[in-house]
Amino acid sequence: TGFITLDKGYKNTGATQSAITFLDGEQGILRYRGYSIEDLADKASFLEVAYLLIYGELPSQQQYQDFEHAVRTHTIVNEDMRKIFEGFPINAHPMGVLSSLVSAMSAFYPDSYNDKAPDKTETHIIRLLAKLPTIATWSYKKSQGHPINYPKNNLDYCSNFLHMMFALPVEEYTVDPVVADALNKLLILHADHEQNCSTSTVRLVGSSRANIYSSISAGINALWGPLHGGANQEVIEMLEDIKADGGDVKKYIDMAKNAKTSGFRLFGFGHRVYKNFDPRAKIIKKAADDVLSKLGVNDPILEIAKGLEEAALNDEYFIARKLYPNVDFYSGIIYRALGIPTNMFTVMFAIGRLPGWIAQWKEMREQKEPIGRPRQVYVGAQLREFVAMESR
Ligand code: CMC
Repeated sequence: TGFITLDKGYKNTGATQSAITFLDGEQGILRYRGYSIEDLADKASFLEVAYLLIYGELPSQQQYQDFEHAVRTHTIVNEDMRKIFEGFPINAHPMGVLSSLVSAMSAFYPDSYNDKAPDKTETHIIRLLAKLPTIATWSYKKSQGHPINYPKNNLDYCSNFLHMMFALPVEEYTVDPVVADALNKLLILHADHEQNCSTSTVRLVGSSRANIYSSISAGINALWGPLHGGANQEVIEMLEDIKADGGDVKKYIDMAKNAKTSGFRLFGFGHRVYKNFDPRAKIIKKAADDVLSKLGVNDPILEIAKGLEEAALNDEYFIARKLYPNVDFYSGIIYRALGIPTNMFTVMFAIGRLPGWIAQWKEMREQKEPIGRPRQVYVGAQLREFVAMESR
């Protein structure tokens, strides 16, 4: 009924009002709850930013202590979840495992169903924040044929993740503060990005009153796609291809310029909203230089990335379309230097984005938004007469 506006990809449709993240694509500005991303990435801890996104204000010392303590005490995952995990093949993609196990959490916490126990929401939020890193590290340990590590709750959030990833029962493991700081910064830079594909998915699924675990699991699946969070894995694979190909960046620029016929896009380039630069990419590029030099890592792929960026930024095709490096372009180079395998990059994005998804899910519920239900413009057949099978 009435006039329907067609807006494929929702390029110009505001789906909600939100007070969480401000983004100005022309000026390259990103703020969480009014605080600049530059300040937060430089000065805050990831859990502090998570609190800010979810509750709207920076925590006081006491609030932070309570919040961090709550997260620390929920890091362990139900042993029966392990049984589900053990059924996955050894080469399962960690994103498939992560979304499945987050979905399974709804079965382990049935009081998350149907808004019947809103007083439990707080605990579900804490559980998600606490358990996602634990579950994420299982995939890596399995891929290595190593036993999993239980969380160590005397460690902070990032250090605990690194411990679960890299500690082995046969030797001492101490967290390198350079690595923990780099991880903290990356997670903050990924923590929210207003109504992107995965966040819109979380809000849409949650708008049917689906429980928080199912909604977040749907967001993880949306993030996995190569045009979204999956791009960070694609970038490194692309840079490796270029290296194996003798470092010929020009060839790949030419292929990307013919994206329509070649089907090849320069991964880590372009953004729906940023048309000048992506402020996250700026910070990450600098961090990549810092972290690699502090860790004494010399990764030839960093030079290839810089060469590719320069060639693209000077090319008419990219200039005309305002295509700049996005958050995914340099992040993988840092993850690699931290020892995180390529197939875990998008999982790292998911751990970072989780507070944003939670904040947006919570805001959607608190604003009592109606069920999300886009309309369509029908272009199919008009009424036709049914033809019996034997006459077809
Ligand atoms: N390489 C080559 N051409 C490109 C690229 C690229 N990476 N990105 C966009 N274009 C071209 C596109 O072909 C189109 O050309 P034309 O005007 O001739 O038709 C023009 O630029 C506009 O692109 P679009 O696809 O209409 O733009 P969009 O807003 O729908 O897509 C995007 C945004 C991020 C999906 C896209 O730029 C892309 O596919 N980039 C590569 C994947 C990537 O890095 N994704 C990560 C995004 S940032 C963080 C995140 O969400 O995870």
